[in-house]
Amino acid sequence: MSTTRRTVIATAAAAGLTAAAAGGAQAHRGGSGSAPRREPFGSLADGTKVERWTISRGGTRIKVLSYGGIVQSLELPDRTGRYANVSLGFDSLDPYVSDSPYFGALIGRFGNRIAKGKFTLDGTEYTLPVNDGPNSLHGGDKGFDKRVWNVTPNGPASLVLTYTSPDGEMGYPGTLDVKVTYTLTASGAFQIDYEATTDAPTVANLTSHIYFNLAGEGSGGIYDHRLGIAATRFTPVNDTLIPTGELAPVAGTPFDFRQPKPIGRDIRESHEQVLYGQGFDHNFVLDKGITGKPEQAATLYDPLSGRRMDIATTEPGLQFYSGNFLDGTLTGTSGKVYRQGDALCLETQHFPDSPNQPDFPSTVLRPGKTYRSTTLHTFGTR
Ligand code: BGC
Repeated sequence: MSTTRRTVIATAAAAGLTAAAAGGAQAHRGGSGSAPRREPFGSLADGTKVERWTISRGGTRIKVLSYGGIVQSLELPDRTGRYANVSLGFDSLDPYVSDSPYFGALIGRFGNRIAKGKFTLDGTEYTLPVNDGPNSLHGGDKGFDKRVWNVTPNGPASLVLTYTSPDGEMGYPGTLDVKVTYTLTASGAFQIDYEATTDAPTVANLTSHIYFNLAGEGSGGIYDHRLGIAATRFTPVNDTLIPTGELAPVAGTPFDFRQPKPIGRDIRESHEQVLYGQGFDHNFVLDKGITGKPEQAATLYDPLSGRRMDIATTEPGLQFYSGNFLDGTLTGTSGKVYRQGDALCLETQHFPDSPNQPDFPSTVLRPGKTYRSTTLHTFGTR
């Protein structure tokens, strides 16, 4: 067995994937990585300076902003060795501040929607800013995606990002100390470790909002990408994208991604749930549930470039969003306009609106406990 083939299987095994899931892919070369580089990336209106950090290892290179913990660029080789940035974003700071639909950002305190911006915890009702129709989305109008994080290098190919969210910020109780570690492993897998502690009972649900297009950002749509999701059920939503509380079978619906299929195959089905989301914008109930180590959640493959990505996570849910609200009004990193379906997000998380849904896995975090979550993106080509 070649070294590269061994590496991908070892990485896949570490992620709880089978060799079959790694699909005969070519892994990227190993390596120890070079020292993280730091450069200025503009300033906010109040004068706060924003920096961009670059880390690379094993054939993967990522650029991370101190603003929002944003992955501004994620570069990977295709099957012929040609590199492309496979994540949507901007080439300067201002549009991230004014216009970004969470491109590449860290999301908190709560990924996805909380119905009507309200929840009750230990008998007290909390009110959050409503920023998506009647609901609160991704932590409110100034969530973690719009905060400046403290970034420190953590070895050759790893960055630690920290942020302290004060008690009451965006309506959430408790001072939340958050630590997110971005690491490129020896094979170039991108690992995200989340940790948080609080000084008062609160809720937390952190995720990453990278928009992937494995053919390269600005290259067109993702409907030919083949997506597999290890979920037998999903959480249907109402017309404001709040889960109804039901865990519905994917079998016989456009939401059946148990066998990888092109994203575009069923996206034009006139199914109530597809209509509500204007495509796919749903939480999938991962079959493995909450796990101690990352388990396989999704696999994505672009037949054109040959790039593939496997996602493994400790989280019980995966929000698959097919870029439905990209509407041709934003100009991306390489100067191309982004249109509907030009990228997809695969956000590992607890289920949307969990604080209002007693039957969903709990998102309550109490003092003395540590919130922990890990997601691993393993890359290769085929
Ligand atoms: C949500 C979408 C939302 C998008 C914001 C996704 O996580 O599920 O409904 O429009 O984030 O860009």
